[in-house]
Parts: sequence; structure tokens; C-alpha cells
Amino acid sequence: MRFYGMPSLHEGGMLFLLDIEFWEDIRMEENKTFYITTPIYYPSANLHIGHAYSTVATDAIARYKRQRGYDVFFLTGSDEHGQKIERKAKAAGVTPQQYVDTIVAGFKDLWKLLDISYDGFIRTTDDYHVKAVQKMFRKLYDQGDIYKSKYTGHYCTPCESFWLDRQVQEAGGVCPDCGGPVELVEEESYFFRLSKYADRLIQYIKDNPTFIQPNSRTNEMLQNFLLPGLEDLCVSRTSFTWGIPVDFDEKHVVYVWLDALSNYVTALGWGSDDDSLYRKFWPADVHIVGKEIVRFHTIIWPIMLMALGEPLPKQVFGHGWLVLDGGKMSKSKGNVVDPVALCDRYGVDAIRYFLLREVPFGSDGNFSNEALIARINTDLANDLGNLLSRTVAMIDKYFGGVLPAPAAIGDEDAALIELAGELPARVDAQMNELHIPDALAEIWKLVGACNKYIDVTAPWTLAKSDAGRERLKTVLYNLAESLRIVGILLIPFLTSTPQKLFAQLGLNDAQTAYGSLAWGGSVPGATVHKGEALFPRIDVEAELAHFAAEAEKAKAAAAPVEPAKAEEADEDAPLPEIEYDDFAKVDLRLAKVVAAEEIKKSKKLLKLTLEVGEETRTVVSGIKQWYAPEDLVGKTVVLVANLKPVTLCGVESRGMILCASDAADANLSALTTLAPMESGLKVR
Ligand code: ME8
Repeated sequence: MRFYGMPSLHEGGMLFLLDIEFWEDIRMEENKTFYITTPIYYPSANLHIGHAYSTVATDAIARYKRQRGYDVFFLTGSDEHGQKIERKAKAAGVTPQQYVDTIVAGFKDLWKLLDISYDGFIRTTDDYHVKAVQKMFRKLYDQGDIYKSKYTGHYCTPCESFWLDRQVQEAGGVCPDCGGPVELVEEESYFFRLSKYADRLIQYIKDNPTFIQPNSRTNEMLQNFLLPGLEDLCVSRTSFTWGIPVDFDEKHVVYVWLDALSNYVTALGWGSDDDSLYRKFWPADVHIVGKEIVRFHTIIWPIMLMALGEPLPKQVFGHGWLVLDGGKMSKSKGNVVDPVALCDRYGVDAIRYFLLREVPFGSDGNFSNEALIARINTDLANDLGNLLSRTVAMIDKYFGGVLPAPAAIGDEDAALIELAGELPARVDAQMNELHIPDALAEIWKLVGACNKYIDVTAPWTLAKSDAGRERLKTVLYNLAESLRIVGILLIPFLTSTPQKLFAQLGLNDAQTAYGSLAWGGSVPGATVHKGEALFPRIDVEAELAHFAAEAEKAKAAAAPVEPAKAEEADEDAPLPEIEYDDFAKVDLRLAKVVAAEEIKKSKKLLKLTLEVGEETRTVVSGIKQWYAPEDLVGKTVVLVANLKPVTLCGVESRGMILCASDAADANLSALTTLAPMESGLKVR
């Protein structure tokens, strides 16, 4: 095959240097395995663009490795146990299993939509996983690494995390991670002896500097968690039942991190009768995770494996967060972006490209509609899409749609050909470091060079003379050939665009294989086919107006006080009886309005600054229609103080004030007290 051969000597006597080491290296990779994983996501709600970000990135790496000849196993899945899911299912009036079944079906739909090429999808409720975890738990118990004791601590349900008294105190009485309320719990639990393995792990991390990536996260783990000393980890619970039962002590269920982390080996058959995949693929080449769970993957997970006597994963890569207006997207904050809606509007490849290109892999990055549209218009529609349509149109116009053979080449051709020749090695170097956006940036250097090459060679002028038409053959061949190389290199990242590009250039399968990347794979005489634009240009203003209108609708729908909706529900049916305990879960407080202002972008919302005892907080309320801001200042209102925060029109609202209103929405009144009372007092 040309690919494995020596650099080719082209007409004109010029030797095009290819990276010989790279071309030779490629042969070695055909018998190698590559095991890559995403986190297994909680099916507590539908996935958002942040989850899509991890999964699309992992998919691009998996596809790249496959393209390079590796035998790849790409695992994703769902982390289905725990108290949060148990509670959500109860609130929804279904069993936990029914609850997760519905949501996990949605995960699979989303991965299908985004063309995620996973080889395995593990659900922690799968029978084989349950059995393997029980076996693992028992083995660790039998060898003395798990022991029974008593647990006293604070539990945060949304984070599924236990916190020590000291940690909660330091955070001001709330969960140190999310700032939400924690519950004091004391129960008999099993503990895993993390402490016993801490020194070995520290040594391992020091001896293996690429184990935790990016590098900065190594220091973070050592300084913040490992060097200060590890406490043993609570690995079972008795206060809920939605989990894997400890088979020798059935009132306990396995606490969620031990259950979750072990998925990476149980999915390969560890602990089952058939562990052939495990023997083939373990240890994992890389676990891709978000930065907030690097700690669990680089401390608990390696120690579990050490205790089991199994090899450690080669690498854990903690990528950054996609943030929205500077804050982490999260289901509980309600500020999430829906990947399905974006794919419907712009197409899957545009969204994949944006996710893979926009943010350095490892750093945080802002998601914005402006940035998304800019990437689509600039990189995809202008740079790539126009390059293809111009090239095909010119071959059509000047050579009747038949790719001409190149003639003698000059300096500008040589520069382009050299860039194309070096490109596979450059992309490979970036992908080996998991620098996905940089790999795409390398590809776009060739795209950019082609666009400049058109400007410099001015094909429309060449077409006017006979000598020019000879030259034009080389120019158009070089453009088509560069695009062929771009298309091949884009295969791991975009899943339908390369095929569209190949179809327009009239290329066959052999000409689009990775093995045919070397310059010269396009065959003169091929027929090109004009096609649709790869990425239609977006009208920025119209699009941003559309987003603004959508956001307004969504925020109005999510407003804490939606009188019309509240009434509808009220009038239809009285609510079912509740226990006092249910009522007591609502923390009602008196609050004094110290400031109020209109939220300009909204027809409904006012921003209220409330004094609640010692505390000041912001609440966004949908009462603009009934109150001018100045009417409210100085008034005492009743606040639902423990409602989950939501962001409305970019303002975080922490609670809601109570109002009464009539069915027609004509009258609305905020609730207050008959006598003046201090703010912060409890309402009961
Ligand atoms: O933590 N930006 O599940 P989870 C980038 N079940 N990535 C994001 C993101 C954002 N804004 N939001 C979420 C769990 N992610 C556990 C994992 S693994 C053995 C158990 C991605 O549903 C990112 O990869 O909360 C993050 O680590 C993961 O989703 C958290 O998903």
C-alpha cells in the first residue's frame, strides 16, 4: 500500500517529505487494544449538554483509535442506585426500577442521536454487575479491607456524599460541594480501609506522572486529599434500600461509589464466569471524567484495585466543565442546555464540532449561543463548507466535473502539499495527548491554507488563458486532494460530514481509508458531484432573537410564582392529605423586602432583595404585573426558604415568596403578617 511505502516522488522532481517515523509507527498499532470509558451518569433526570460533552469527546478519541487500527472497547452507562433516585421515584409514584428504565432509555436515544459509537453500555442494575459487586464486597470483607463500624456524619442527597462535622461547619452548616442542606445521620456501616493503602497510592502517583491528567490535577489530589491523610470510606448504608444488597448482611446496601466505580471492570466480565474481555482490555487506557469526580477515580478506585490485587488504569483524564454564564450547569439548578434541541436545530455534526473544538480539553469553558453560531458560521460554513463548494464548482465549471491530473508544481503547491503531508502526524501527536481541540485546529490549518491558496492562485484568472488552464489543473487537483485528506482526518470527529464531502469529490472507500492518507490518493478522471452546502450559514441576528424569545418562554415557565398555573392546579382538585412531617419539610420564614427592582428583560419578573434574619438573599418573583418595586420595599413577606435555587433571566433566585391570587389573575396579594414581626422568624 502506498501508505506504508516511502514518500512519493512527484512530477516536477520534488520529494515531499512525510514523517517517516510516523508512517512506520502506524503498522505497530494494529494488534493493540484500547479501552476507554465515560463516567456512568445518574439517571435522576435527562442528560444535558455537559454530559454530551464528555461522551462526544470520548467518542472522538475512541473513533480516532479505531481509525488508527486499535482494537477499541468504549464503555458508557448509567449509575442507577442511591437515595436520590429512590426519592425521585417515590415522588413520581413509580418504582425506582421503572423510574430509571425510562430515563436510561432517554440516555440511549441521546447517544444514538449524537452518533456515539459505544461498544458496551453498563447499567448498575444489570444482574451481572450486581453479582460481581457482591463478590467484590465479600472478597474485600473476607481479607479484612472492609470492616463494620458506626457512621456519624452529614449526608447530602443531591451529591450522594457524606461529610464530616468539621467539613460541614467550615462550609457554614451546608454541603461543602453544592451549598445545599445536609442531614445528620448515624448508622451502622461497613467501611473500606482507604487509609491502609494511602502511602502506596502516593508512591504510585509519584512514579506514574501521567496517571492523572491534566498534570495540574495530580498536585490537587496530592495536596488536597492524599497528603493530609485519608479517612476510611463508608461503603454501605442501611437508611435506604435502592442499592445492591450486601449478600452476607442484607440490611445493608452497597454505598454508591463502590458500586459505581466497579462498573469499569464488571462490564468486562470481572468476577463472572467469562472474563475474557477483562483479560483482553484491562487495564483501561483512560477513564474520561469531569473534574469534580477525579478525586473518586484517582483515590478510591485505584485503592479498590490495589486491594483486589488488580492492575490500575493507565490514566484518568479530568476534563473541565461547560459553564453557563459562569456557573456550572446542573440539573438541580435548572440551568441546563438540552442537546436534543440543539441537534434538531443545527445538526449533529455542528454540535459535535462545537463541543470538541470550543474549549481546551481539561479547562472550563463557557457555553453560549453566540459562540456556537460563530463556530458554525466561521469554521464550518465559511472555511470548510465554502472551500468544498468552490472546489467542486470550479472543477465542474472549468473541467466538466472531471478531476484534472496535476501538472508541474510550484512553490505554493509544495507548501500546501508539505502541510498536508505533515498533518496526520500532527493530529496524531495532539490526539495522543487528548488535545482534541488542538487536533481540530491542526486540520483547520490545512483548510485555511487551501482558502489562501485559492486567493493566491486566483483560479478564475487562470481559466482565461491556455497556459493558465494547465496551471489550473494542478491547483484544482491540489485543492481536491487536500480536501480528501481533511475529510479522512475528520472521520473521528464528525460523523456524516466526511461522507458528504467524499461523495461530492467522487471518492471511493479505498481512497478514504486512513491507510490512503498519503498525498496523491485522488485519482484524476474522477467525477465530482455538486451537492448541498455542508453547513448552511446562520443568520446571526435572527437566531439570537429566536434564542432570546425561547429563553423568555422557558424562564417564565420556570418562574417561582406562576399565578395562572398555581390557580389551575388549585381549582382543579384539592391536594391529597399530607402528614405534618411533609409540611414540616417546607422552611417558611418571614422576610423583609429591603430592595426591589424590575428585571428589564422580563415582562413578569421582579428582583427582590430580602433580609431573612441575619442573612440577605435574592428572590426573583413573577409579580411585576401586580406590584411596582417601590410598593414592596419595607414590607414583610412569607418566604419558602429551602426551595432549590433557580436562575431566572440570569439572576439566581433563592426561594419564593407566597402570594394569594384569584382565578382570573385579576387580583394578587403577597402574604404578610397582621402584626409587625421580625424577619427570619419561622412560620408554622
Ligand atoms: O457523577 N460540563 O454522574 P453525573 C462538563 N454517576 N461535563 C459535565 C457537566 C458540565 N457542565 N455536567 C456533567 C456522576 N458533566 C456519577 C459518576 S462514574 C463511576 C460515576 C459530565 O450524572 C462530566 O463527565 O452527575 C461529569 O463528571 C459527569 O457528567 C457527571 O455525571
